[in-house]
Amino acid sequence: MIKVGFYQFNPFFGDKSLNLKKVIDTLRGSVANLIVLPEFFNTGYQFISIDEIANLSESIPDGETTNALINLSKQNSCYVVAGIAERDGNNFYNSAVLTGPKGYIGHYRKTHLFFEEKLYFSPGDTGFRVWDTEIGRIGIMICFDWFFPESIRTLALMGSDIVAHPSNLVLPYCPHAMPIRCLENKVFAITANRIGIESRKDNTSFKFIGMSQVTSPKGEILVRASEDKEEFLLVDIEPELSRNKALNNYNDLFKDRRPDLYKLD
Ligand code: ACM
Repeated sequence: MIKVGFYQFNPFFGDKSLNLKKVIDTLRGSVANLIVLPEFFNTGYQFISIDEIANLSESIPDGETTNALINLSKQNSCYVVAGIAERDGNNFYNSAVLTGPKGYIGHYRKTHLFFEEKLYFSPGDTGFRVWDTEIGRIGIMICFDWFFPESIRTLALMGSDIVAHPSNLVLPYCPHAMPIRCLENKVFAITANRIGIESRKDNTSFKFIGMSQVTSPKGEILVRASEDKEEFLLVDIEPELSRNKALNNYNDLFKDRRPDLYKLD
């Protein structure tokens, strides 16, 4: 058994040190083995210019936020997945880092950009990634990636036991869809969403829907947060349950697949 969960909160746009301090104060001393934080947890979501992104983004792994997460992981002896704006030369990515008790492990760049993210960020070029860790195999997708069933399917086929899912959800569907995504792939998922409203631009306002949750290979919602409160919630899971894809003696969700009959494009 391991303890996994999320910290759902309301990041304050542009104040990285405030947001980081809040996370560190909340998570310090926790007994969790894996904690997932929201997408853009340290900056907030609604960027309105490239200059803002240039000022608030960081390189990975040597940026200050990744370094703080490395320290947190080492001190708490836990794994952390967290969404941040990444700078790589002149390109910016909507990324998530994975840190663990021994330090930096890797990062993923969001494949499917949502709405005006397309104005400012480059589409992810890492492809989906899965890391084999001491607590199980951890894959990452970011927010809107969930809408494309190929994302979690790819992570499951790559061997993920747990899909970490940093999010800033605004559409209402994801909390209802993730149990099915988990059932059809027989994986755990941790969706870490945020709460609050950002309205930094005329005519475009985002209300983030909360409802962060941990969902199981049986399609269960093991724990779900409220729509509007800051919550740090943990639940015990057995990641190895993801490795058995059989439904009965005759059916196995992966062995029964017929990729020769499926259309990918
Ligand atoms: C989203 O991808 N942030 C909705």
